[in-house]
Amino acid sequence: MKNEITYLGSIIRVDSETIEVEVSNDIPSSAPIINGRLYKIGQIGTFVKIPIGNIMIYGIVSSVSNTPSKLDENIRYDIGSRYLSVQLVGEKIGDGEFEKGIGTYPTINDEVHLVTEKDLFDIYGNKDLGSIELGKHSSSENLSVFANLHKLVLRHSAILGSTGSGKSNTTVSIIKSIINGYSGSRVILVDPHGEYATAFPDAKIFKIKDQTNPLFIPFWLMTFDELAYFLVGAKPSDDQKPEHRLLREFITKYKKENFKLGAGEINPDFITADSPIPFNIRKLWYEMNWWLNASFNSSTKKDEQTKEAAATESEGDYENLIGAKFTSHLSTPAASQPYKSQHQEFYSYEKKLLNRIKDSRFDFLFSPGEYKDEKSLKDLHNLLNEWIGSDNKLAILDLHGVPFEVLDITIGLITRFVYDSMFWGRNESYTGKNRCLLLAFEEAHTYLGKNDNNSYSKVAVERIFKEGRKFGVGSLVISQRPSEISETILAQVGTFIALRLTNSSDQSVVKNSAPDNLNSLINLLPSLRVGEAIIVGEAIKIPSRVRIGLNHPRPTSADPELVKGWSVNHSPNNENYKTVVKKLREQKF
Ligand SMILES: Nc1ncnc2c1ncn2[C@@H]1O[C@H](COP(=O)(O)OP(=O)(O)O)[C@@H](O)[C@H]1O
Ligand SMILES: [Mg+2]
Repeated sequence: MKNEITYLGSIIRVDSETIEVEVSNDIPSSAPIINGRLYKIGQIGTFVKIPIGNIMIYGIVSSVSNTPSKLDENIRYDIGSRYLSVQLVGEKIGDGEFEKGIGTYPTINDEVHLVTEKDLFDIYGNKDLGSIELGKHSSSENLSVFANLHKLVLRHSAILGSTGSGKSNTTVSIIKSIINGYSGSRVILVDPHGEYATAFPDAKIFKIKDQTNPLFIPFWLMTFDELAYFLVGAKPSDDQKPEHRLLREFITKYKKENFKLGAGEINPDFITADSPIPFNIRKLWYEMNWWLNASFNSSTKKDEQTKEAAATESEGDYENLIGAKFTSHLSTPAASQPYKSQHQEFYSYEKKLLNRIKDSRFDFLFSPGEYKDEKSLKDLHNLLNEWIGSDNKLAILDLHGVPFEVLDITIGLITRFVYDSMFWGRNESYTGKNRCLLLAFEEAHTYLGKNDNNSYSKVAVERIFKEGRKFGVGSLVISQRPSEISETILAQVGTFIALRLTNSSDQSVVKNSAPDNLNSLINLLPSLRVGEAIIVGEAIKIPSRVRIGLNHPRPTSADPELVKGWSVNHSPNNENYKTVVKKLREQKF
């Protein structure tokens, strides 16, 4: 073997998964040419192999030096020799497949050889059923690197990298491979910047205020606590306040009345204030407004001031937010008819609620089109059919127009609703375990922050990372700031696709959470080229440096064109900012 052109040297030290190799003085060249290909010895990140009988052990070069890492007095070193530190990654027995992990350890004086392109083809193998191509190996344009789709999706994965390192392009590559390769696949992409529509012309794109596919997240998907918070700023601890108790009673009553639903009638006994059942939020406002403003013919006693005793002049119209009118009590002495309403509990809630309903930025939540209320034609099964039941395979939820203060609850609701549908549908033939789903979260650090204790989206996404696999939900997070992402989420990531990462705290996240302890490869993170990734973890046979192909059409970055705009002369005009101010006042585009 020593005469072979691939011979590199021999082992001088073994330390668990790391070995040290002394490169032989006899090798003819530091850059041998084998089968017409040039190999450079001692390139960090390249592979070496150690044959032991019919077992072939593979390792990755992690450092190179001209002195050994530990000098041993009993050994005479050849000055000028080179020493390679190698991390062992896996082995191949006979003609079997390459497998991660080491069963047989090499020992001192074992031979170490260069890995040729042919060896790499043997390791990486061909595309088999259940795999997708991620890209090409950095050392060889012809060598495709595949991922095990099952593990990539259901063991969850992450695409990490600094801005401009190629995350969005990688996301497109992976989703494209999935939807082009598997006709029954389904993916939901949560797209906070609205950048992916251009990359996927065939996807179903839901967007706020869109004519064809408007994005609706019905407010009644919220639990009572969530709704009370978003409508009137109430906290669960407000339970002692009469207005909070009444709000719960009202909402429960409305939901219980509406048990005959599009997706099927349900037993009202099971309905609570938290049940995802439509009701009319305008009616809720109308009721609050009614009790606040009513005047009564009965008496000043609160419990005698009932609906029947009201001195109504006109009923109003809840759909158009017109309150009922009552005979005025102001001009008459307080002790005579009609009497002023003693029901003042909703004094502060009523105005807050009205503000929310009128704020058009929240229309996708509080006026969700055909999902608006109990009279609506559509129910939640229609929503699921639109998002994950259509034949588009990919649904992009473009959250570009979602106001920042509700982005968290919006993503939380989407994730929880989709997860719940997979949980309760886990045994149905068309969903759950029988038709898995991938949920991809772009810009994950903005709503899955580890220090954010009150994040709805984080709670919902963490649940997918912890439990999703059992019900067929997998997840992919995409982020430029992994060090800011919830640790629960990172700990459950099975496969890391790490593009160039310049920030050292972000690098250490990958170092610490990556399943294969391969610091040598991870140390390359700051020096990777655009579109080049270190991929480690469960879905990939061997940790690899991979070039991801550039996709066309591309996602669009929402960045303004600064130079272009600053290169033009803009003439001042007093009319200029009128439209801006009008929109700002009406909160309407
Ligand atoms: N695999 C690639 N090969 C070549 N160029 C790439 C590749 N990926 C990205 N780029 C280039 O880098 C730019 C930024 O890529 P993008 O995917 O938007 O990065 P990120 O999402 O990390 O900010 C792209 O517009 C493209 O020009
Ligand atoms: Mg991006």
